[in-house]
Amino acid sequence: AESKGELTKVDNVAHRGASGYAPENTISAFDKAVDMKADYIEIDVQRSKDGELVIIHDNTVDRTTNGSGSVKNLTFEELRNLDAGSWKAEEFSGEKIPTFDEVLDRYHGKTGILIEMKSPELYPGIEEEVAGELIERNLDKPQNEKIIIQSFNFESMKKMNSLLPAVPIGVLTSSKKDTTDQALKDFAAYADYVNPSYGIVTQDLVSKVHSLDMKISSWTVRSQQAADFLLDMDVDAIITDYPDYVLPRK
Ligand code: G3P
Ligand code: CA
Repeated sequence: AESKGELTKVDNVAHRGASGYAPENTISAFDKAVDMKADYIEIDVQRSKDGELVIIHDNTVDRTTNGSGSVKNLTFEELRNLDAGSWKAEEFSGEKIPTFDEVLDRYHGKTGILIEMKSPELYPGIEEEVAGELIERNLDKPQNEKIIIQSFNFESMKKMNSLLPAVPIGVLTSSKKDTTDQALKDFAAYADYVNPSYGIVTQDLVSKVHSLDMKISSWTVRSQQAADFLLDMDVDAIITDYPDYVLPRK
């Protein structure tokens, strides 16, 4: 990011879509993010029992749909028949759990996509599948910078880096243990982004990440105060439920 006093352009990343305004990880939330001019949408990728890559945050469908059970134990047909909108508000009833394919096809070129591999340890082989979908669409090339892959699972991210050497990789953490000099140096071997929860962000951390030639995206903004804090910290991207809280400033 640029120095203070100049226009600081921070990437505005809509967390699970504009999830403050529409049900998270649905087409409504992603469309809303695009309408609000978010630079990226953030999506959580998991896999159905019969192998379809789907976009949902929790490991179970209980909180965000009218169904129950683990994502990995439900078939795609079972998942697709669920209502993923009503829990948020009646006006969203009938909203479906999107597929990874559908999101790539609908949004690539329109907005950036920050792909989180959610609990990849539950889905053996998911790295190759995600990589395959990107390669099929030519989204693994250096000119397509607006695809980033992140996870709390660092082994999975090492694997993604070797499968897709030109695609930026991010490591997610909310632990201070992952912000030591040694930990940051280890990340720099395969990652392009260090993505901490905002509670562990300090000016010192931002400087250290930048001095290792990585960027820093922080989450999850749900108040103007949190957005302002991160704007002051000079992070490169802010992951927010409310894209309108993150306006670049003079
Ligand atoms: O993008 C960062 C953030 O999504 C990580 O936490 O739980 O919302 O997936 P979570
Ligand atoms: Ca996420």
